[in-house]
Amino acid sequence: MILVTGASGQLGTAFRKRLGDRAEYLDRSLLDLSEPDAAGTTVRALRPDTVINCAAYTAVDRAQDEEDIALAVNATAVGEMAAACHDIGARFVTYSTDYVFDGTKPGSYVESDPTTPINAYGRTKLEGEQMALAVNADSLVIRTSWVMSGTHRNFAAVMLELIAKGDVTVVADQHGRPTLVDDLVVGTMRALDAGVTGILHMANAGTTSWYELARTIADIAGLDPHRVAPCTTADYPTKAARPLNSVLDSERIAALGLAPLPDFHGALEAAVHELLAS
Ligand SMILES: NC(=O)c1ccc[n+]([C@@H]2O[C@H](COP(=O)([O-])OP(=O)(O)OC[C@H]3O[C@@H](n4cnc5c(N)ncnc54)[C@H](OP(=O)(O)O)[C@@H]3O)[C@@H](O)[C@H]2O)c1
Repeated sequence: MILVTGASGQLGTAFRKRLGDRAEYLDRSLLDLSEPDAAGTTVRALRPDTVINCAAYTAVDRAQDEEDIALAVNATAVGEMAAACHDIGARFVTYSTDYVFDGTKPGSYVESDPTTPINAYGRTKLEGEQMALAVNADSLVIRTSWVMSGTHRNFAAVMLELIAKGDVTVVADQHGRPTLVDDLVVGTMRALDAGVTGILHMANAGTTSWYELARTIADIAGLDPHRVAPCTTADYPTKAARPLNSVLDSERIAALGLAPLPDFHGALEAAVHELLAS
């Protein structure tokens, strides 16, 4: 049996759509990772073959004020689940982020690049990677970026609302690779089937900026892309600093014989239409 945690989030919802009754699903009401001991106890009690941890404290700005809670959810509980999986002989998969990097590298980031998070969320996610692999070297830690879906309130959903109402200014100097959850689920299952362990970067192909992405979303929705104007990160200060370069690449995917995720445009188009229909 596959156990999916964080079942009500973007990625958890996509796993439910893909795996249906091949898996069991726990949302926060059934497993609250801010109580890390419960995470290990639950895994040991349910004895799944595989745990796919889609739960995370993902409020990047709020984490600046709640780093202890974010650390419990993103690191301590992750370590507890990884250890429990080691004990019962189950596979453990968890997700990390482009925000483990500081964004100053001139090119794209690969798995072996040094990590230097510049905000609390990134620090807690990095700690989660390290805890999982320290207690269970067979853990699979997938770093992904700019996660979007057609089912939840995310960057695409917010842009659709704002652009429909009027003009919007969006940062143009942060670059990354949007990743659509349905593709991420397929990539995860392929990596699991291939027995991959350790850190693996997984993002859709295609690099963009938030500004360019907002214009693409407007275009797909039949809205006027000229309503989107560019600004700099300095013009739009946020509580948590964001890396300017979030572009994830993989030095492992091809060597492992895995197919890279496709260009983001096709899945983004489907997600935007799903958001518009909902
Ligand atoms: N979103 C991004 O842009 C992005 C970028 C890079 C990496 N990632 C990583 O990708 C993974 C999936 O992200 P996502 O976009 O699917 O996130 P999401 O939509 O925010 O979902 C996160 C899930 O975690 C749950 N959760 C939060 N606190 C919890 C707690 N204390 N106990 C149990 N569950 C808790 C949430 O439950 P509620 O629904 O009850 O709040 C939600 O179901 C995460 O590991 C994230 O860090 C995301």
